[in-house]
Formats: sequence, C-alpha cells, structure tokens
Amino acid sequence: MRPKKRHVLLLWMLVCSGMTEAIEPISTSIAVGMAAALTGFLASYQNIFYYFHECCRPEWISFNRTGLEADLERKLFGQHIASRIILKAVNGFMSNENPKKPLVLSLHGWTGTGKNFVSQLIAENIYKEGMDSSFVHVFTAELHFPHASHFETYKTQLQQWIKGNVTNCAHSMFIFDEMDKMQPGLIDSIKPYLDYYDKLDGVSYRKAIFIFLSNAGGESIIQTVLDFWKEGKDREELELRDLETQLSLSVFNTKKSGLWHTSLIDKNLVDFFVPFLPLEYRHVVQCAMAEMKARGVRPDHSVAEQVASDLVYFPKAERVFAVKGCKTLESKLDYYT
Ligand SMILES: *[C@@H]1O[C@H](CO)[C@@H](O)[C@H](O)[C@H]1NC(C)=O
Ligand SMILES: *[C@@H]1O[C@H](CO)[C@@H](O)[C@H](O)[C@H]1NC(C)=O
Repeated sequence: MRPKKRHVLLLWMLVCSGMTEAIEPISTSIAVGMAAALTGFLASYQNIFYYFHECCRPEWISFNRTGLEADLERKLFGQHIASRIILKAVNGFMSNENPKKPLVLSLHGWTGTGKNFVSQLIAENIYKEGMDSSFVHVFTAELHFPHASHFETYKTQLQQWIKGNVTNCAHSMFIFDEMDKMQPGLIDSIKPYLDYYDKLDGVSYRKAIFIFLSNAGGESIIQTVLDFWKEGKDREELELRDLETQLSLSVFNTKKSGLWHTSLIDKNLVDFFVPFLPLEYRHVVQCAMAEMKARGVRPDHSVAEQVASDLVYFPKAERVFAVKGCKTLESKLDYYT
C-alpha cells in the first residue's frame, strides 16, 4: 500500500469508528501522536469523509418513517395486513432508543407476493445505501448453506458472521431468504442473539434487525383468503387475527419451514408473523402499472391488463389468485412494450 493510501485508510477508520477502537492495534504512543496531528485535519474533513464512505453512523443509517409509509402505500399491492404490521413494527423499533431485544420479523406467503420487496423497502428507508449497504446481509440456503453434511460448520459460521457484523455495527440487518430450504435447526444456532440479553460476550444485539422470509404457511393463508372470497367478503376486511394462529401453527409444524419446532417460536422470540396474501388479477394490474412508471414510460392500463390476463391463476375452477403473483411481471412487460 502506498503511504498516501494508507493515510486515507487510517483516517477513514478513525473517523468511522469515532477514533477509539481503530487505534487499538497500533501502539498507543504512535496513535496518540498521530491522533494529535490529525485532529485539526479531521475536524475540517470529517464531514467530507462521512459523506463519501458508508459508516455505521446516523448520516448513513436513519429511519425515514414517512418514506416507508409512502413506499408501502404506493408500491406494495394487495397487502393491507402486512403493510400495517411492518410499518408499526419497524417504526416502533426504530424510534425506541433502548429496545430490549432485536426486531425479529417472519414474513410468510406464496411466491411473488412481495416478501423480498418489503425487505428491500425496509432497508431503503433505514440505510442510505439500501440493499447495497455493507450493514445489510442476505443469507440464502442455496448460496450460504448448501451442503447438509456441513451443518455443524454452518452453525458456527453463521454465529461468527452475525457476531462479527453486529460488533462492527449495532444497527445491522440480516435477511434470511428461503427459510423453507434451510436445514431444520440451523436457525436455532442464532437464538441467543435474538433473545432479551443485555450483552453476550460484550456485544449487544438489541439494535439489530432479523427478517426471515419463507413460503411456509402460504397454503394456510391461501385457504383463509379463498374462504373469505367464497363467502363474498371484502378482502380488506381480513385481519391479522384471522390468519395469525393458523400461520404460526403451520410454520411450527411444517418440517420444511426452516422454523420447524424451533425454540424461536416456543420462546416467542419472533416479534411478528407477517402474512402475505395471494394476489388477484387487479393487484397484478397495479404491479404492472407501477413497474411501467418505475421504468419512466407512461403507464398504459390496457397493456397492464393484457399482461395480467396472460398469467396463470388458481384454483383451477375459480381462477382467483395469480400463481406467481407479481414475480415474472418484469420480463412479461419487456415482451409487451
Ligand atoms: C423520507 O422519504 C420521503 C418520501 O420518500 C422523502 O421525500 C424525504 O426526503 C425522505 N427524508 C429523508 C430525510 O431522507
Ligand atoms: C458479515 O457477514 C458476511 C456475510 O454476509 C460475512 O461474509 C462477513 O465475514 C461478516 N463479517 C464479519 C466481520 O464477521
């Protein structure tokens, strides 16, 4: 490393960490001298460094409530229950200076109903860099934990990753995608971190956010929504309590849910089970309109309807819900526009 570069790196470390932790590896006398010499420089350039390098600081991490509310309202369709819970949960957690435990959300529902999308909206309204933030971590079974035989290694590794990242930044966010593909028990290895401890080995996990995504429970949600539909009731009248008990039971008892018989549920460490409802034709139309808008083309309702009517719907007889929700819409739109 060339001297100049090293300077910049050191400076960055000092600025980002508030000067104390980064000094430790260097001998104290050198550090004191350097720090003194740098103080003036730091004072004037600090803001510029905050500006260019992502740090674990409010300049880069701060919750925008109005932003999340607006995003959920304008960009997420057909999920009145999920919208409400997510906003309440994240807002409550982020405005609490002293949370007693990390926020743990478990999002459930059929493919394409918006689980990943919602995680992204949460990240974008907390981290300036959104999903690209170095404080947002996504784990998938296929990518991070592919081999059943390495179970023990994965458990240790996962613990180390979480611990390492939370040590770096208390406001870290961890998203576990495709929980249903994870080996039962793997997630139990991080249970202590989700619990009501003040500190574990000197690290506090209370400001972290954990989000689990899974299709598990999707079928029980669909059944409830379908029954509602058959009774001719308005979907918006569905409430969390209509779904919640059934949902947590089916998640707990489904072997392939990633949360099968997990003590996370036993011990009430999951703060919210969030159901995502299957999407109807009209929601797919809304998704298509929003997607056109996002692409900067004028939203064309007839195109949106055409795209939506070409999708496959279930159950076979009634054709109420889109099999893939809004998932394959982007490529479909390419074809029509
Ligand atoms: C919060 O989000 C709103 C709506 O997206 C936006 O107009 C506003 O500038 C954001 N505020 C901050 C501080 O980023
Ligand atoms: C943070 O998590 C990532 C996985 O997303 C891992 O590769 C990295 O080693 C972790 N960092 C620390 C300091 O443990």
